[in-house]
Amino acid sequence: MPCPSKSDDLVFFVSGRKVIERNVDPEVTLLTFLRKNLRLTGTKYACGRGGCGACTVMVSKYDPVLAKIRHFSVTACLVPICSLYGNAVTTVEGVGSINTRLHPVQERIAKSHGTQCGFCTPGMVMSMYTLLRNHPQPSEEQLTEALGGNLCRCTGYRPILASGRTFCVESNGCQQRGTGKCCLDPGGNDSSSVGRESDICTELFAEDEFQPLDPTQELIFPPELLRMAEKPEKQTLTFHGERVTWISPGTLKDLLELKAKHPEAPLILGNTSLGPAMKSQGHFHPILLSAARISELSVVSKTSEGLIIGAGCSLAQVKDILAERVSELPEEKTQTYRALLKQLKSLAGQQIRNMASLGGHIISRHCYSDLNPILAVGNTTLNLISVEGARQMPLNERFLAGLASADLKPEEILESVYVPHSHAWEFVSAFRQAQCQQNALADVNAGMRVLLKEGTGTIEDLSISYGGAGAVMVSAQKSCQRLIGRPWDELMLEEACRLLLEEVSLPGWAPGGKVEFKRTLVVSFFFKFYLEVLQELKKLAKFMPDSHHYPEIPDGFLSALEDFPITGPQGVQRYQSVDSHQSLQDPVGRPIVHLSGLKHATGEAIFCDDIPTMDRELFMVLVTSTRAHAKIISIDSSEALELPGVVDVITAEDIPGTNGAEDDKLMAVDEVLCVGHIICAVVAETNVQAKSAIEKIKITYEDIEPVIFTINDAIKHNSFLCPEKKLEQGNIEEAFEKVDQIVEGEVHVGGQEHFYMETQRVLVIPKAEDKELDIYVSTQDPSHVQRTVSSTLSIPINRTTCHVKRVGGGFGGKVGRPAVFGAIAAVGATKTGRPIRLVLDREDDMLITGGRHPLFGKYKVGFMNSGRIKALDIECFINGGCMLDDSEQVTEFLILKLENAYKIHNLRFRGRACMTNLPSNTAFRGFGFPQGTLITESCITAVAAKCGLLPEKIREKNMYKTVDKTIYKQAFSPETLIRCWNECLDKSSFHSRRMQVEEFNKKNYWKKKGIAIVPMKFSVGFAATSYHQAAALVHIYTDGSVLVTHGGNELGQGIHTKMLQVASRELKIPMSSMHICETSTATVPNTIATAASIGSDVNGRAVQNACQILLKRLEPIIKKNPEGTWEDWIEAAFEQRISLSATGYFRGYKAFMDWEKGEGDPFPYYVYGAACSEIEIDCLTGAHKKIRTDIIMDAGCSLNPAIDIGQVEGSFIQGMGLYTTEELKYSPEGVLYSRGPDEYKIPTITDIPEEFNVSLLPSSQTPLTIYSSKGLGESGMFLGSSVFFAITDAVAAARRERDIAEDFTVKSPATPEWIRMACADRFTEMIPRDDLRTFKPWSIPIA
Ligand SMILES: Cc1cc2nc3c(=O)[nH]c(=O)nc-3n(C[C@H](O)[C@H](O)[C@H](O)COP(=O)(O)OP(=O)(O)OC[C@H]3O[C@@H](n4cnc5c(N)ncnc54)[C@H](O)[C@@H]3O)c2cc1C
Ligand code: FES
Ligand code: FES
Repeated sequence: MPCPSKSDDLVFFVSGRKVIERNVDPEVTLLTFLRKNLRLTGTKYACGRGGCGACTVMVSKYDPVLAKIRHFSVTACLVPICSLYGNAVTTVEGVGSINTRLHPVQERIAKSHGTQCGFCTPGMVMSMYTLLRNHPQPSEEQLTEALGGNLCRCTGYRPILASGRTFCVESNGCQQRGTGKCCLDPGGNDSSSVGRESDICTELFAEDEFQPLDPTQELIFPPELLRMAEKPEKQTLTFHGERVTWISPGTLKDLLELKAKHPEAPLILGNTSLGPAMKSQGHFHPILLSAARISELSVVSKTSEGLIIGAGCSLAQVKDILAERVSELPEEKTQTYRALLKQLKSLAGQQIRNMASLGGHIISRHCYSDLNPILAVGNTTLNLISVEGARQMPLNERFLAGLASADLKPEEILESVYVPHSHAWEFVSAFRQAQCQQNALADVNAGMRVLLKEGTGTIEDLSISYGGAGAVMVSAQKSCQRLIGRPWDELMLEEACRLLLEEVSLPGWAPGGKVEFKRTLVVSFFFKFYLEVLQELKKLAKFMPDSHHYPEIPDGFLSALEDFPITGPQGVQRYQSVDSHQSLQDPVGRPIVHLSGLKHATGEAIFCDDIPTMDRELFMVLVTSTRAHAKIISIDSSEALELPGVVDVITAEDIPGTNGAEDDKLMAVDEVLCVGHIICAVVAETNVQAKSAIEKIKITYEDIEPVIFTINDAIKHNSFLCPEKKLEQGNIEEAFEKVDQIVEGEVHVGGQEHFYMETQRVLVIPKAEDKELDIYVSTQDPSHVQRTVSSTLSIPINRTTCHVKRVGGGFGGKVGRPAVFGAIAAVGATKTGRPIRLVLDREDDMLITGGRHPLFGKYKVGFMNSGRIKALDIECFINGGCMLDDSEQVTEFLILKLENAYKIHNLRFRGRACMTNLPSNTAFRGFGFPQGTLITESCITAVAAKCGLLPEKIREKNMYKTVDKTIYKQAFSPETLIRCWNECLDKSSFHSRRMQVEEFNKKNYWKKKGIAIVPMKFSVGFAATSYHQAAALVHIYTDGSVLVTHGGNELGQGIHTKMLQVASRELKIPMSSMHICETSTATVPNTIATAASIGSDVNGRAVQNACQILLKRLEPIIKKNPEGTWEDWIEAAFEQRISLSATGYFRGYKAFMDWEKGEGDPFPYYVYGAACSEIEIDCLTGAHKKIRTDIIMDAGCSLNPAIDIGQVEGSFIQGMGLYTTEELKYSPEGVLYSRGPDEYKIPTITDIPEEFNVSLLPSSQTPLTIYSSKGLGESGMFLGSSVFFAITDAVAAARRERDIAEDFTVKSPATPEWIRMACADRFTEMIPRDDLRTFKPWSIPIA
C-alpha cells in the first residue's frame, strides 16, 4: 500500500561525492543505481544474487558508540539503495584510475597477471581494497577470507592471490616456491630441465617495482556523514516508490510502533534473504521497515553467564565478538562459541557475512542455516520486543519449525540473542558438508551438544539438530531423550545411529536430492562427534587419574577428527627466459602484462553492457518455454502489451528473413523442444517493465510424446542428432581373443556450465540509412552474428557491423549462441526502429544456453597380465540436447582424441550425439576431449586394478614411445610427450610421494590420500583448412602510431597483447606505439570463431604478414636514412605516397579428415603435457583437500609466458571444477535447477591446490607456428582430471581396506556425495535404501 506523501531525501556518498536522491525507488539496488544513474559501470553484474562478488563495493559507516569508522565489503546487487542513508560507498572508480592515480591494489593485480577477461577484477580489487583499509598488512588467512566470496572463471585465482600476498605481513620471504625454499636458492631450480638452468625463470613480475601502499592517501570518510552519525536525527525517513515504500525509523520506539501498524511488513537488515526471495521467488512486500538506524539492535553485552548479541549485528561482527570471547574465557565455557565460529568461517563469502544480520539469519529459518542448529543445541534465548513489551523465547525446534505457538507475533521484533556459556563436562560441536569448502550452502549441517555427568561418561543431557535434512531444521529430540543415562561408548553409538536414522528420516524424493548421502551424513557426523567427545574425555582423564575409563580411540580412527584447513596456495611457475641476445625492445617471449589489465583493475575497461544508454533505447527480455516437448497452441500477449512501458512483443512472425535453420530455429514456431526454448521476446522502456511483462504472456501448450532427457532414453528411442562417427584400427575381435584379461565398464561424465562471468549480452543500434545496423556483442564469433542477423533480416551482410571490444569470458559458450540473441534483438530493433539492449540474467543464461555435453561411455579393454593393452573398444554417447548446434563436431573431436597419449594397436571408437529435450549443448573448452579422455584414463585404472599394478605403470607401458601414427594415421613424434611425462614425474617427486601416500593410508582409516599422474596429447585447431585462415589490418598513421586489427576476439586469453607483441617484433617499434581498438567485421571481414586454441597462432601469422608487407614498403626509405627514427621514415613514406596500411593474411594450416576412410591430417599440431595431483579425502563426509598439483606443459616457445601460464592454470582449475564440483541438476520434467552460483559450484579461491606448480617445458620447438609457439587455451582442462584420478585412487584405497570391490562405476564429477557413498562402511550400510521404482526422484541423471 504505497503512500502518496512526499519522500525524504536519501543522502549518501559515492567515492567522495555527495548524492542526494529526491525520489528514490526502494526497489532499486545499489548496483543498478551505480550503473544506470551514476554511470559508474566499473561495478559489474554477473549473478544478481550475492553469490559471485563481481559487484563488490566498500561501504563505510561511522559507529558513534565505538567512535570508529567501519569499512566493509558488500555485494551491491543485494544492497537496497535506501539502506545507504548516511553511509559512504567506495566503488572501483573511487579507488584509482589510469588517468589520475592507480591504487597499489589495482596496479598489483594487473601486473601480477591477476586479470584475464577482467570481468571479476573490479570486485576482486574492492574486496582486497576493503581488506587493506582495515588491515594494511593482512595475514594470508585474512586475504583468503576476504576473497572467498569472489568468483573468477578465468585465472584459477593463483595470480590474484599472488598480487594480494604482496601486501601481506608474511610476504617478505620468497613466495615463488611452495616448498619453503627460495627460488633463488641453489638447487631451487630443477637441474633436470633440458634447458640450461640459467634459462629458467620463476618470476612473472617484479615486486620491487610496485608502488608502496600508503594508507594516508585513501579517501577520507566524509565529515558531513561523521557529523550526521554523531548527532543522528531521530525522525523517521520514508521513501516512496511506485510499488514499495521504505520506512526507516530513527528510534526503537518508532520502529516498534511502525511494526505494530504494519505487522505484515518485514524488517529489512542485510537483505540477503529477503532480496534473493524477492528477485527469484517473486516475493513482494509493499512496505519494508528498515532497522538500519536503530543502534539498540547492535548492542553487545557480556554477562557472567553468556553473551547477549544485538540482532542487528552482522555475521562478520558476530564472528569478531565470538573470537574475542573465545580468547578471553576458559575453553569449557566457549564450546558453543567455538562451534559457531567454525561455521562462520565457511558460511557464505565475506561480503554476505558483512551484510547479513544475526537476526535476519535466525528469523529466516533457512533449512540450510549453519548457525541455527548450534544456537538451538546451545540453549539460545531470543529476546523479543514489541509495543506491548519484552519477552523471551527459546530458539528451539518448535521455533525453527515455524510453529505458530513458538513464533514471533507479527508486531514483535527480535532485539537480541542470548547465547549462554557452556559448562565443564559439556561439549558442543558443529558439522557441515557442502559441495565445496567455502561459499557453498551445506548439504547437511549439524549442531551437537552433550553434557556428561562429571567424572563419568554418562549422558546427562544431549541435543542434536540437523540442517539440510528436511524442509526445516530437524531436532532429534526423541533420540536424545532415549540416550540420556547411557554411557558414552560404542554401544551407545550404535544405538544413537539407529535412533537418529529413524527420527531424521528423509523420503527418497526429498527436495534437493542426495538423499542417501544426507542420511549417511546424519550418522557420520554423529560418529565424528562421538570421537571428538571421547578425545576430550581422554584429555580430561589425564588430569584425573581416578576417573572413569573411557573407550580407546584406535590410532587409525584419529584421522576422523580433523577438518581440512582452508589455506591459500603456494607454488612456483617456471618458464624459459628469452635468449640473451634478443633485443630488449622485442617483447616476444616475455611476461608482458595483459593490455587491458590496468583498465580491468580500475573498472575503466568497457564491456558490452557498459556502453552508455542510447537515445530511445529499449530493453529486451526473452520468453522461454516451460514445457520440455509440446505444441504451441497459442501465444496471448495482449495483457503484456497493455502494461506501462511495454512497446512490443517480438515473435517468429516478425522475422523478415529466415528464422534460423530448419532444425535450429531462433524462436520456436509451432513446437517447443525443451524447457528454455525461446518463444518470443518483450521489448519495453526499462528492464523492470520488460521483466514484469513476460509474466503476463500466456502461452498454451499441448504436450507431445516422447519426452527424452537421458542418454539411456535417447538410445532406447533411437533419438540421435547425427550419424555415428567411428574410427577403427587393427583387428579388435581377434585381439580380444588373445589377451590375458578383459574388463568392461561404464563411465558417466556430467555436463558443465560455461559460467562466463559476463552473461550473454548484445546492443543493436539501427541506423537511419540503408537498413544499417551496429551490433555490439559479447561473442567469440562476430562474423557468425553478422551473417545470422543479415539472413534473419534479409539484408546483405554489408549492412551490419559487429563490434567486439572485449568479452567477459567465453570458453566456447559465446561461439554459436550470441548470434541467436543478436538476431532476435536485431528483429526487435528494426521493427521498433529503436536501439535494443538484451542482457541475460544469470538464471536465463544458464537455462537457455546449454553447455558441455554430458557423456556416457562403455568400454571393453583387453590386456596382458603385464599391463600391456592389446585391444580397446569404446562406445560413447553425448547428450546433445534438442538441436544439432556443434554436437556433430564435438562427436568427431571426441572420437579423434579418445586415444590420448596411448599406442594401442587394436582400437575401435564409436560415438553418437543423442537428441534429447534439453537445451542444446554446445562448444566448450576442450570440445569433447575432457569428457572422452576420462573413459580412456578410466580404462587405464581399471587395467591397473586387475593387474595389481599402479596406474602410472600402465600409463607408461602403453604410452606412445617413438615416431608413430595416430588412429587416424596422422604421423607425429611423441618425444615431447615423453619429456613432459618424465619431467612431471621428476618435478613432482612422484615415486617417493606415492610411497608416502601409501604409508599415510596404512595409518589412517577415515582419511585417505590419493595421487595420480596423467599424460596428455592434445590436438590443436579445427579439422578443416578453411577454419585456419585469418586476416589482419595494420595501419600506420603519420605520427608513427600503429593501429592493429585482426580477426581474433579478446576473451581474456590475451590475444590482443600477443598480437601487439608480434607486431612490435616485426615492425621493431615498442608496443606502446601501437593500439588495438576492437574486433570489427568492418575492418577484418569473414573471420573465424576465436576458438580451438588456435586464435593467437593464426591471427599472429596474419598480423606478421601485414607488418612484413609494411616493412618491405618502408625498406627503401630505411635504407636511405638508416639513422632516422621510425617517425622520420613514416613521414618520408607518406611524402612518397607509400601506402601505410596493409592487410595481412594467413591461408591456414592444412587440415582434413576423411571419415569414410577413417584417416586424415585433421590437426596442425599437438600440445603435450602431464599433471600430477595429490589429494586427501575424508571418508566420512566425502570432503577432499587438494594437497599439491604439478603441471608440465609444452607451450613451444611461449609468446608470453605469463599469459600462457595463466591459460594453463585457469583451464586446469576449470577442468578441476568439471571433474569435482560442477554438477547440473535437472528435474524429472527437464527443468534445470542449478541456475546460479548458489546451486552450481565453480571452484572458489579456497578450492585450489595448496601447492600449485606450473612449468612450461623448455626448449620445445614447433617450426610450423608463429615463432614456434603453441596455443594453450584448452588443453589444461583435461589435466584437471589428475585431481579426479587422485580422488579415485584414494577411494580405491579406502575400498581395499574395507574389503569392497575395487572397481566401481566412474562418475564425474567426484562430488562429496560420490566420494562418501563410494567409501562404503558401517554407516552407509546402516542407512535405509530406496526402491527407485516407488517414487519420482527430485532430480534425474542425464548422462
Ligand atoms: C550468496 C549467499 C550465500 C549464503 N550462504 C549461506 C551459508 O553458507 N550458510 C548459511 O547459513 N546461510 C547462508 N546464506 C543466508 C544468510 O545467512 C541469510 O540470508 C542471512 O543471514 C539473513 O540475514 P539478513 O540480515 O540479510 O536478513 P534479511 O534478508 O534482511 O531479512 C530476512 C528476514 O528476517 C526478518 N528479520 C530480520 N531481522 C529481524 C529482526 N531483528 N526481528 C524480526 N525479524 C527480522 C525479516 O523480516 C525477513 O523476513 C547465504 C545468503 C546468500 C545471499
Ligand atoms: S552480481 Fe552481485 S554478487 Fe554476483
Ligand atoms: S578474469 Fe576473472 S572472470 Fe575473467
